[in-house]
Amino acid sequence: MLILFLIIYLYASLSSASVDVLFNSFTSNQLIFTGDATIDSSTIKLTKNVNNFSLGRAFYPYPIIGSNNSTIPSFSTSFVFSILPQRKTTPEFGLAFVISTSAIPPGDLLAGQYFGILSTKHSVAPILVVEFDTGQNPELDDNNDNHVGIDLNSPISVVKHEAGFYDGDEFKPVKLSSGKNIQAWIEFDGKELGINVTIAPVGTSKPLKPLLSYYDGVIAKYVSPSMLVGFSAGKTIWNETQRILAWSLADKGAPRQINTSDLPIILPESSPSSSSSSSISSGLIVGIAIICVAALLFISLSGLYWFKLRKKRGDKSDEVEGWEIDYWPHRFSYEELARATNQFSDDEILGRGGSGKVFKGLIQANNIFIAVKSINRDSKQGLREFMSEISTIGRLQHKNVVPLRGWCKEGQEMLLVYDYMPNGSLYSWIFSNSKTLSWHRRLMILTDIAEGLNYLHHGWLQLVLHRDIKSSNILLDSDLCAKLGDFGLAKLYIHGQAPTPTRLVGTIGYMAPELVKAGPTMGSDIFSFGVVVLEVVCGRKPTEMHSEYALALVDWVRKLHRDGRLSEAPDLRIAREEYEVADMERVLELGLACCDDVPELRPDMKEVVTLLMNLKTKYTSELQGVDCSDFGDFSTISNLSVTSDYGPRT
Ligand SMILES: *[C@@H]1O[C@H](CO)[C@@H](O)[C@H](O)[C@H]1NC(C)=O
Ligand SMILES: *[C@@H]1O[C@H](CO)[C@@H](O)[C@H](O)[C@H]1NC(C)=O
Ligand SMILES: *[C@@H]1O[C@H](CO)[C@@H](O)[C@H](O)[C@H]1NC(C)=O
Ligand SMILES: *[C@@H]1O[C@H](CO)[C@@H](O)[C@H](O)[C@H]1NC(C)=O
Ligand SMILES: *[C@@H]1O[C@H](CO)[C@@H](O)[C@H](O)[C@H]1NC(C)=O
Ligand SMILES: *[C@@H]1O[C@H](CO)[C@@H](O)[C@H](O)[C@H]1NC(C)=O
Repeated sequence: MLILFLIIYLYASLSSASVDVLFNSFTSNQLIFTGDATIDSSTIKLTKNVNNFSLGRAFYPYPIIGSNNSTIPSFSTSFVFSILPQRKTTPEFGLAFVISTSAIPPGDLLAGQYFGILSTKHSVAPILVVEFDTGQNPELDDNNDNHVGIDLNSPISVVKHEAGFYDGDEFKPVKLSSGKNIQAWIEFDGKELGINVTIAPVGTSKPLKPLLSYYDGVIAKYVSPSMLVGFSAGKTIWNETQRILAWSLADKGAPRQINTSDLPIILPESSPSSSSSSSISSGLIVGIAIICVAALLFISLSGLYWFKLRKKRGDKSDEVEGWEIDYWPHRFSYEELARATNQFSDDEILGRGGSGKVFKGLIQANNIFIAVKSINRDSKQGLREFMSEISTIGRLQHKNVVPLRGWCKEGQEMLLVYDYMPNGSLYSWIFSNSKTLSWHRRLMILTDIAEGLNYLHHGWLQLVLHRDIKSSNILLDSDLCAKLGDFGLAKLYIHGQAPTPTRLVGTIGYMAPELVKAGPTMGSDIFSFGVVVLEVVCGRKPTEMHSEYALALVDWVRKLHRDGRLSEAPDLRIAREEYEVADMERVLELGLACCDDVPELRPDMKEVVTLLMNLKTKYTSELQGVDCSDFGDFSTISNLSVTSDYGPRT
């Protein structure tokens, strides 16, 4: 009888085992570590400084369990973390708090990206992630490079907010990647299905108002009556140290208080005084320079508006004439664009870019379809990108550059209007299961991009560096002719003058290795173009990690080339009889040459155009396919001087 009682008692206490733990420091046997996560001076260090990818996770080994197997439990937790990139100028990554059904959740699909746990491509598992994101990922609609967000099984957050805390009603921003210790509090309410996230610098008591509060029944799909919690982080080639210094977790009531007074403080390696003063002054200089340039641009643009406004008031005809829409980027009114896009309806969203959403619209008067890009108002970068697009693409005209039809700036709204490209992005074609591009079509598309880039580099009064060439920024019109789009990061330079190094921007997987040190050059655009060539021919993403090709795409093709197995590289969906192996190999070799580690050894865009033109012509004459060179003929290099015909009309 007693034994039975004991068993029942034990069973009851086990099944309702509650979690209430506090780690003021860590040892290796307390948690489940996977990947590169280790203990380093009694803190958890999630990734390792290596020359390639790294990802790591640390999970509490026991699940948090609901009172029966259909109740989702509640819990609250607090932890102290610090994030420190090795260099200030390189891309940053951040870390994530994860709720999962497993202590070793799957999802190492995208080497080192998305906190080493999420994927844009697959649903890895039902997971809920609180991201402390220090990198801006243009693909994911991230509003800035320092935010906290909640993700449901996708790196696109359902809610997010600039990192910081509320002191009463006043919002105070906090820089996540300063290396300083930051405390976070998370309350998960399994009954009402909600989650609150609060952060503050260590030493500040817990703010009353949470930074993020997300209550939605949909959470039920991503959590379970038995859930495991832990941390995850990843990095690509650039190094970043993501640490957890202390952690408390409880499934009933508040978590135990972390004593933050003697946690280690990990700051940049160089001596604190000199590094901070120099970084502040260089940061200040860069900041002031940017503000000056933006202000100058703004003044000149607003001068233009003012001039236009006065002109408009003078002659009453305010209406936009048909020819005006056809020929000249002009200013649209907000009402006009709201009407065209059905009041910016969600149904009209074509995509989300680095800087904002893109809507499809119809200008009824002319029956013209347009794409309207709204620039994020709250991003500091927004105005800069808006200006950048108007000042570059607004003045460029070339058959392989997406035409800018106009812009609108009213109050906080910044909108850019382009021709609508019915066939979407090249990315959506290469990685689609339903659509396949033939060899000949791929060759035509690559030639188009090469011509567009050649125009930017050599064809216009000023040198234009695009700085973000990638397949998702290349758009296809109704005839599948490719055009370069998204000039949000583009910069203008005087020909012959060396571009000055600027903030490191671009997209991981497409960035030339020397970018960190040397800044943007024609060579770095050519490198990105080379990656696109390999992507188009191989049908593979630049940073995919599969057992078979664990290397970045460039290294993988390079290795095949060294081993004399280049013929294994092309996309299997291109029918073998469509191409001659020697031609396919020439295109791959061209891609590899563009991706040479040594910038001086990369070919010039003029040479690239010639080679691709010749190949394209060979297949075109055999196949009599559609050609989209109705705008101009670029068949030989000597014709290149003609390009000024497509320059700005003044
Ligand atoms: C990174 O490099 C190390 C050492 O060269 C190697 O052992 C490891 O497999 C590499 N990791 C990946 C993901 O390529
Ligand atoms: C689980 O427990 C909740 C209350 O804790 C109760 O409402 C529910 O009916 C229980 N479900 C089952 C299947 O026992
Ligand atoms: C709880 O789970 C067990 C094992 O999966 C199952 O046998 C039992 O029917 C479940 N109970 C309820 C109330 O759903
Ligand atoms: C989350 O925050 C909201 C708003 O401050 C509050 O009403 C709610 O009780 C909080 N939830 C939890 C679980 O603490
Ligand atoms: C990352 O750290 C490793 C090891 O210290 C180093 O070899 C590598 O160059 C670093 N990567 C970068 C991009 O600085
Ligand atoms: C925190 O730790 C320090 C040093 O170990 C100790 O002096 C202090 O009393 C502790 N504070 C609390 C609130 O326990």
